[in-house]
Amino acid sequence: MKTALHIHSTINCDLLVIGVGGAGFRSAVEVLEKRPETRVLAITKGAHPQKSHTSTAQGGLAAVDPRDPVDKPIFHMFDTWKGSDCTADQNVIKKISEASWDEIIWLENRGMHFSRNPDGKLSKRTFGGHTVSFGKASAYRAVFESDRTGKGIMDTAWGEAIKRNISFLNKTLVTELILKENRCVGAVIFMENQGKFVRVLAGATIMATGGCGQVFKVTTNCRQNTGDGLAVALQAGLPVMDPEAVQFHPTGIVGPGILASETLRSVGGILRNRDLEPFMERYAPKMKELAPRDLVARAIESEIRQGQGIVNPDHNIPHVWIDLTHLPQSVHDKQIPEVTGFFKKYVDLDPKTELCPVRPSNHYHMGGIPTDEFGQVQTASGQVVAGLYAVGECAAASFHGFNRLGTNSILELITMGRFAGRKALAYLKEVGTETLADKTQGASFARFSRYLEATGKDNIGKIRNSLQTLMTEKVGVFRTGPELAAAVDEIKGLQERANQSALAGKSLIMNQELVQHWELDNLLAVAMIITESALQRKESRGAHYRDDYPDRKDGFNYHTLACMREFSKIEFDQRAIDMSILEAGGEHSEHFNMIERKY
Ligand code: FUM
Repeated sequence: MKTALHIHSTINCDLLVIGVGGAGFRSAVEVLEKRPETRVLAITKGAHPQKSHTSTAQGGLAAVDPRDPVDKPIFHMFDTWKGSDCTADQNVIKKISEASWDEIIWLENRGMHFSRNPDGKLSKRTFGGHTVSFGKASAYRAVFESDRTGKGIMDTAWGEAIKRNISFLNKTLVTELILKENRCVGAVIFMENQGKFVRVLAGATIMATGGCGQVFKVTTNCRQNTGDGLAVALQAGLPVMDPEAVQFHPTGIVGPGILASETLRSVGGILRNRDLEPFMERYAPKMKELAPRDLVARAIESEIRQGQGIVNPDHNIPHVWIDLTHLPQSVHDKQIPEVTGFFKKYVDLDPKTELCPVRPSNHYHMGGIPTDEFGQVQTASGQVVAGLYAVGECAAASFHGFNRLGTNSILELITMGRFAGRKALAYLKEVGTETLADKTQGASFARFSRYLEATGKDNIGKIRNSLQTLMTEKVGVFRTGPELAAAVDEIKGLQERANQSALAGKSLIMNQELVQHWELDNLLAVAMIITESALQRKESRGAHYRDDYPDRKDGFNYHTLACMREFSKIEFDQRAIDMSILEAGGEHSEHFNMIERKY
């Protein structure tokens, strides 16, 4: 039986914001502060904007106070460049680092409760790879709200948004972008509770759909992070940049992989193996626990591979310990209360007196929809798509290159949110707020019809689980060509199974299974481009480590661009790495060459 799907109605707005985590909110508020009459429609897949993944961020956000006698933006730029394994774009590094303190003031003035020292100044903590004087000593650069900084940002952004002219649609998916001759004029959305497809015609559209961590079984990411924005961009013929650049946080709580913040190591936590040896000294003699994440994650996995992990018979998963037992009571209570609570809740251990089990957990995608330094989306040939912006984890500007430093993601989402908001506003002024009439009937209907018409007996939950296990096992911290190639074949098999899987109920209204089928398709698409891109990058770079190609190679000094209109038919292209700080010459520019990474 053919299912007749149709567009139920059309909504007109000036700005459509797809996804309302920190980045989406920041861009919307930027527009509304400057032009309050702008009609903003914000959609979220979640039950409420406050459920966005930004809320789970713990450690802080990096920013250099211009009055700081020791730290300087140029040191932050250097650390970010070195941390990225020389693949971040230097124009983006410069723009974000120089704008960072303004954003702290913006948040502070709008009521964010940053933690403070007894003298009333903002407290700062150090994080992996952040240094002063080009690697000489650790930099105290991250401001924070205890160990729940993301929650503070979301509360602040939400408070600002609801004061203004913004309409929210919760439990709403974006199923396709409406592109007209290299211009975006809106999107088709699906309202889950009503079971209706709606055409949104918008002057400008900002994608802020978050990450894709659910591709992996062991992840710090929320269940909703299914790479929807990336899949929708691919479907529209747009590329994803550097898909192979996936970050594994060194310390996930063993088992589900819930984030145990890097703050634990910042305040003095020590990683120990089964002999209780503080093994990081062997891997990063200078920075030890506070080396960048890619390095620490590999060190932990190497210990485990060499039989130096601990296996708890309850779950049979090898891990190492994080030792917090020597820290003063006040540190536990004031600086890390949330994470301490996680260990108590999930593994029934008291970090004040007991060693806690940790292991790398998928955390962040450095890859994403390619944009310039203003958040304007680019095609594979580098052309800007007019009226379309991408910010936050779904985007790649690229500030992080192939390895992100802790506390740089919140900084990125909040600054890029502002830049994209400003650019969108300028665009709206230029083209007017009259949206283009469009009769799009929903190119994504073929997908939804397939879900509704399939008759096979397979279970999409099981397929999702198999995909996640496969990705964690074969596309993780250490990768090899044969394993990646095998993973590609298995993902194809899983896609075929997904295509056949019937839904238990065929209603469009409040059909969780229908939405999960759509999410599974998105996960499969993202898994495929991550794996194929990892296979073609025959070198090791940042978080992308190939056992069979353990060295960085100059021949790969570029960003990967991957397009995939049809499942598994990938076209690769390249984008040059911006080296403008080096090219500008002048004081310190020599630090921005293809430097060696030693910590
Ligand atoms: O470890 C953390 O608190 C995470 C911070 C980040 O990913 O930036």
